[in-house]
Amino acid sequence: MKASLRGAVVFVAARAGREVSTLTSDSATPHHSLAQADNTFLPGPVLLLGAPGVGKGTQAQLLMAAFGIPQISTGDILRENIAKGTELGKTAKGLMDKGQLVPDQIVNDMVQARLTADDVHSGYILDGFPRTLAQATWLDAHLPIFRETPPLVAVNIRVDEAELLRRITGRRICSACRHIYNIYSHPPVKPDVCDLDGSPLQHRSDDTEEAFTERMKAYESLTAPVIEHYRASNRFREVNGEPSVEEVSQSIVTALKALREAKY
Ligand code: AP5
Repeated sequence: MKASLRGAVVFVAARAGREVSTLTSDSATPHHSLAQADNTFLPGPVLLLGAPGVGKGTQAQLLMAAFGIPQISTGDILRENIAKGTELGKTAKGLMDKGQLVPDQIVNDMVQARLTADDVHSGYILDGFPRTLAQATWLDAHLPIFRETPPLVAVNIRVDEAELLRRITGRRICSACRHIYNIYSHPPVKPDVCDLDGSPLQHRSDDTEEAFTERMKAYESLTAPVIEHYRASNRFREVNGEPSVEEVSQSIVTALKALREAKY
């Protein structure tokens, strides 16, 4: 990392401010939006941390649409591999369905390949990675090699465990555009059909109570130490993930601005 890039305050986005607001054609369901997209700020490389179901993917989609930086979700990349029937996907499927983590080396290699793509120049949102200390150490060591981007900042989202189970079992995802719904808190207008493109919604095979219990065990033993690892740095903030999607989103943007204004 070049010294001149350390402590960058804001990035000037050479693009018009955008909103994620997407009202359906019949205006029946207002989709989540960031109230104020800001064209003078780009959050740069961001880690979204938190337990299964806290809202990392939902919030990453909003940040991605608002700031034009890609979401890199290791869970999504693994699921794409499963859908395509790759060797990697075959290895991952059994582990994922049981709520266990995929080996570090496989996931690190996936992230390495993704971080060398062209669209990460202005930053990116890492969702679901790193989730072991070995992955965090690998990322810390390799990050400066990929890009001359400002330092990574981490935001941890906190939600009570009982609410997490409700979020996980109620989640539905569009099979085409990947928009995330929840049958309790954010249902589609027509059951099991995406409001945005009419595609069928899917229920993830690991979104069962049984797999959730295992995912929480993996989270507590392997991922909670990753949160402490970043908490110990001065590039970490924590937000309450219990309020509405929009309120959580505002808290995250506020946290990101504070992190980018801080002197490292
Ligand atoms: P992954 O896909 O990363 O799953 P996860 O971390 O368990 O997180 P989730 O995707 O379940 O939840 P989320 O926090 O994104 O919540 P969401 O926004 O969808 O990983 C799956 C598996 O892949 C792992 O178990 C492992 O096997 C493997 N894997 C992945 N990465 C790995 C790695 N790095 N190393 C090793 N293995 C790896 O929201 C959940 C629901 O809540 C939705 O329905 C949403 O609509 C709703 N919701 C969101 N926010 C709110 C709100 N504020 N109020 C009400 N409802 C809300």
